[in-house]
Amino acid sequence: MSEPKVSEEMMSLFKRRGFVWPSYEIYGGAAGMYDYGPLGFSFRNNIVEIWRDLYKGREGFTEIDSEYVNPAEVFKASGHVDKFADKITYCTECNAPWRADHLVKGVCENPDTMTEAQLDAAFVEHGITCPNCGGKLGPCSDFNLMFGTNIGPGSARPGYLRPETAQGIFVNFLNLYRYNREKLPMGVMQTGRGYRNEIAPRQGMIRMREFNMMEVELFIDPENKVWPRWNDMKDEMLTLVPNDGSGTFQMTAAEAVEKHIIANQALAYFVGTTKQLLTRAGVDPTRLRFRQHLEDEMAHYANDCWDAEALLSYGWTEITGIADRGAWDLTRHSQFSGSDLSSFRKFDEPRETECEKIKVNHKLLGPRFKAKAKAVADAAEAMSPSSVKDGKLTVKVDGEDIVLDSELFEVKLVKEKVSGERLIPNVIEPSSGLDRIFYTALEHSYDKDADGNTVLHLPPEVAPIKVGVFPLMAKDGLEEIARKLCEDVHTHRAEAYYDDSGNIGRRYARMDEIGTPWCITVDYETLEGDTKGTVTIRDRDSKDQKRIKIGDAPGIIDAMLSGKLCFKDL
Ligand code: ATP
Ligand code: GLY
Repeated sequence: MSEPKVSEEMMSLFKRRGFVWPSYEIYGGAAGMYDYGPLGFSFRNNIVEIWRDLYKGREGFTEIDSEYVNPAEVFKASGHVDKFADKITYCTECNAPWRADHLVKGVCENPDTMTEAQLDAAFVEHGITCPNCGGKLGPCSDFNLMFGTNIGPGSARPGYLRPETAQGIFVNFLNLYRYNREKLPMGVMQTGRGYRNEIAPRQGMIRMREFNMMEVELFIDPENKVWPRWNDMKDEMLTLVPNDGSGTFQMTAAEAVEKHIIANQALAYFVGTTKQLLTRAGVDPTRLRFRQHLEDEMAHYANDCWDAEALLSYGWTEITGIADRGAWDLTRHSQFSGSDLSSFRKFDEPRETECEKIKVNHKLLGPRFKAKAKAVADAAEAMSPSSVKDGKLTVKVDGEDIVLDSELFEVKLVKEKVSGERLIPNVIEPSSGLDRIFYTALEHSYDKDADGNTVLHLPPEVAPIKVGVFPLMAKDGLEEIARKLCEDVHTHRAEAYYDDSGNIGRRYARMDEIGTPWCITVDYETLEGDTKGTVTIRDRDSKDQKRIKIGDAPGIIDAMLSGKLCFKDL
């Protein structure tokens, strides 16, 4: 399967200009693995900063950084050990592995939802053979995508590289809930690497084996999935493709919730923030849509899911998944770890309830357990009546199991006033693939100008270099002035780049090719006459040029970067 032309051209530009390089190239490379060069790393970091700007500190969102290698228990509980698999088929002739659902894409409806038997039958019915050698394809089976490892020597503690960052947040729920003063909603963010042993990583940066994620987990009351900042989002216009086959619609977030197209406010809020993140990063809003997953397409943990999809040279491609994970993760980690991962919901007024409680017989317990009697009584009365087995109750005191016979306790119906109840919070998650946003923003910004030169129309906020500074000639004092100007303009927000090699047209073209929004040139007019002390500033997209005072340049760049000033108004 050959790569689309735009993608091929872009990957060669990326490589030449230091955006991304295939990893380990001198050792032959490794499919699905890329290193970020200086420009790519800056551009990627700028996208992460937009993500932080959208969430961090808002309604108390916090950011954490958890481990990449996790013990197997974490992913047994999360369901990834049993269910995180794609369908694989091997060519019976050349043995090449293929992702089965990708081979029937465009031929069968909803390949993601097909069973192994359906895929096998589709190969025969549609004459699908090995794309490599034309050989017959073997039977499909499940291939788990996690990379396994061992923690410490030997195989006593198996582990996995995390396939999503989210689990590091769920296993820290108790710490986070305490940090948040035991309040919901609670938003937690994490960015870092995810690892998936993809069967056939043949689409450049879209399908990598080691990739970068930006995930947000919002813990929320299951019966009240509203969001305090809803007013800021309700008018955001969205392009939606619901899963009932009714088509593609433009509507506001508020309309989508009122018409029950998006299940709740919190989910719709994140569809809106995702649109803002992607468009600020450089994704073209006219090539962006939100598609709802089909019932049987959803991940094992999700009960509703909307994918932000971008139209690329590869076709419509998921770049962010926004899922309502319900109570799946915290329920499973509670069950598997034995820790209580519930939160507390306070009632408006205390309520009187009748419930069964264990009550010990203190008269008998005292003589029987002497100094330990109080500890035994407290432990027993803290247990639920469901712990009574065959009329006996086993309590743990100082690590010792103590069995209480039925005469030592009874299960009583008691009335009590309770101020609230415990519940397992639901989780709503926008999970973005940073590399996919990176690639999409670049493909959507990629253009040729009238002279056939490449221009990246990146939004200034994400452009890796904000301003190129040139002397017209590297002589006659122009060079010193330009170097000083470059120093003055350069800040942590506005990376400036000095260039004095080659003719000025080539220098502009080199900056256009990497998306630098503005260039400033020091020329002979800077030195004398009416124009003394002025420089030329050039706009990447219009290619217009204006003269500004040299001392105004830092302020002008800063104002244009923050959107307070437009080039045309200079
Ligand atoms: P796909 O169906 O394309 O494999 P997915 O549904 O498995 O994607 P999710 O599990 O929802 O993806 O992962 C969340 C996000 O992580 C995706 O929206 C995507 O941007 C990113 N992502 C997932 N797998 C990869 C990968 N192999 N390479 C790069 N990014 C990825
Ligand atoms: N955290 C979403 C996913 O990786 O599937």
